[in-house]
Order: sequence, then structure tokens, then C-alpha cells
Amino acid sequence: MLKYPVIGLSPMDGVTDIVFRRIVDECSYPDVLYTEFVPVDGIILERPRLLKMLEFHKTKTPVFAQLFGNDPDNFYQVTKMLVNKGYAGIDINMGCPDEHVFKKGGGAALILKPEVAKKIILAVRKSIADNTDKKLMVTLKTRTGYDKADTYNWISHLLEVSPDIITIHGRTFFQKYSGLADWEEIRTAVKLAKNTKTKIFGNGDIKNMEMAKKIIKDYGVDGVLIGRASLGNPWIFGSHVSTQEEKLKMMIRHCELYNKYFPEGNFKSLRKHFIWYVKSLPSSSYLKNDLMKANNVDDVKKIVDLYTSFEKNST
Ligand SMILES: Cc1cc2nc3c(=O)[nH]c(=O)nc-3n(C[C@H](O)[C@H](O)[C@H](O)COP(=O)(O)O)c2cc1C
Repeated sequence: MLKYPVIGLSPMDGVTDIVFRRIVDECSYPDVLYTEFVPVDGIILERPRLLKMLEFHKTKTPVFAQLFGNDPDNFYQVTKMLVNKGYAGIDINMGCPDEHVFKKGGGAALILKPEVAKKIILAVRKSIADNTDKKLMVTLKTRTGYDKADTYNWISHLLEVSPDIITIHGRTFFQKYSGLADWEEIRTAVKLAKNTKTKIFGNGDIKNMEMAKKIIKDYGVDGVLIGRASLGNPWIFGSHVSTQEEKLKMMIRHCELYNKYFPEGNFKSLRKHFIWYVKSLPSSSYLKNDLMKANNVDDVKKIVDLYTSFEKNST
């Protein structure tokens, strides 16, 4: 279903919700999208906010639901709930460095528990086979190691159970986001997966499409995911360079879509997006200050109008 090489939007908690996914999909069609990571344990408890996070909307782009946790049975049950929603596959988070997630044995903690990691992959695959005729993919996203890069051993374990895609963020758990992504480690995974049915995606520090294409060529990966460079720039997967006016319009559209999908949501959670949308605009610090006080879409519209007329008069 995917056409390789793939250039997709990386999963980001608090960012790649249904609203941002829809906006990115409309602006520049990445080859693949992911939900934010969602805890399987919380879904089993039927927490409404979490179920909402996995609400599917039809896109031109295949979407993977990303789950985290450490209990294979819970992965089985949650996969069963998702198989007929329209997702292209289930992605298992084995890389999150958040201490809270780590302490509960999920995310990057699975790097230290390869046997559990493999059981989870098998549980998800079994749940798909037991509960649907659809050919959903079983994929995962991880890091190069725990305290030091150990790609060879870690990825060798994972390949024993043949996930469809392994995405590797080229940093260890310890590094979190410091330093640079180590693409030589990702190359090690590419070599290991050669002649297997598992595809390898690389991830880390990709700034734009040119860089994405060069990395695919240089490191032989089957795809790459772009995360932070997409913040405030949903056009990143295409060739269009957005204007100041388009950025401001998109920020308003983001608010409107948010109200549509999350009428009960916390509007203030959009403020981080405001900073990203306006970061490259002239006099953006004034604009940011004002936007940090916005409590609804009308506030945002008024601030944008004021800014636009100020900018017009000052040129
Ligand atoms: C705000 C934020 C939230 C993130 N949430 C997730 C997540 O839910 N699942 C995941 O696998 N990775 C998550 N990541 C990691 C990114 O997907 C990606 O691996 C990382 O940012 C490196 O790629 P980049 O340099 O292109 O940003 C998150 C990163 C950021 C910045």
C-alpha cells in the first residue's frame, strides 16, 4: 500500500492530532501520517479523551495509529478496537524517552526488554489476523539504544519477528533530543534488514524535502519521517513556499478546525502552534505576546487583523 521510499510526518504527542494531520494532508500530502501516541492501558479503561485521540478521519494519506504500553494483552485488545476504523496499520512506540512512560515500562523502556517488545509485535499481528480480513501493517518506532547506541543487537531482536516497518530515531534514550541524530547507526539497521521483509525508516534532524531525499539516497533507508521541521509549516512535504498571509490564514483555520473536532477542548493548547506559525514573521515577538493571551478564535482573528494593518502601514 505504501510506495517506497516514503517521506512522512513523524508522530508528535500534543501536535499530530486529527486537526494537524488534516492540515498537513491538505497542504502537502506526506506519504504517511501517524496519530499521537496513545496508551493502551488507558484505552482499555475507556478514557474518553484517549478514545477521541484515535478517532479516524479519511485522508488522502495512509494513517498509522501509534500505541504505547508494555502489556501484550492490552495491545491485542486495543488493536481489535482499531482494525476496522480505516488505519493503514498499528505503530508501536518503543522510543519515547518521557520518564513517566519509561517508569511504566513503555516507550524506550522496551529497548531493555526485547522479549516483551517481540511479544507485543506478535500480539498486534495476531489481533489483526483474528479480527479483520484487512491487511494492516505492524510497525514500530524506536531509538538506537538505551544509554549507548546498540542498534545491531536491538534491531536484530526486532527482526526476528518481522515487523513491516521499523522507524529509528537516531538517538539513544539517554540523549533524549540532545546532540545530533546518528545516521551511521541507522545505516547499520538498513544493512541488517537487507533481504528481510522489514523496511527501515530513519528519523532525526531532517529540515526539508531536499535533505530528506538526500538522506534516503545516502543511507539507503526505505523512508524518513520529519517531525519538528513541520511545526508551523504544514507545507513542508510539498514545493510551495508559504507567504506571511497564508501562515496567518492557516493559523486561523487551525483554530476553527480545532473547535470543530474538539468543541470541549482546551483552546489554550493551541498557543504553541501560534508560536510556530508566526516565528518567521516580521515583528513576531509582539505578535506572539498578543497571541499568548488569545482564548478563542475571535481573539486570534482580531490580533491577526491588527498585526496585518500595522505591518501594511509600516511598509
Ligand atoms: C513535541 C513532540 C512530541 C513527540 N511525540 C512523539 C510521539 O507521540 N510518538 C513518537 O514516536 N515520537 C514522538 N516524538 C518524537 C518525534 O516523532 C521524532 O522522532 C523526533 O522529534 C526526531 O525527529 P525530528 O528531528 O524530525 O523532529 C515527539 C517529538 C516532539 C518534538
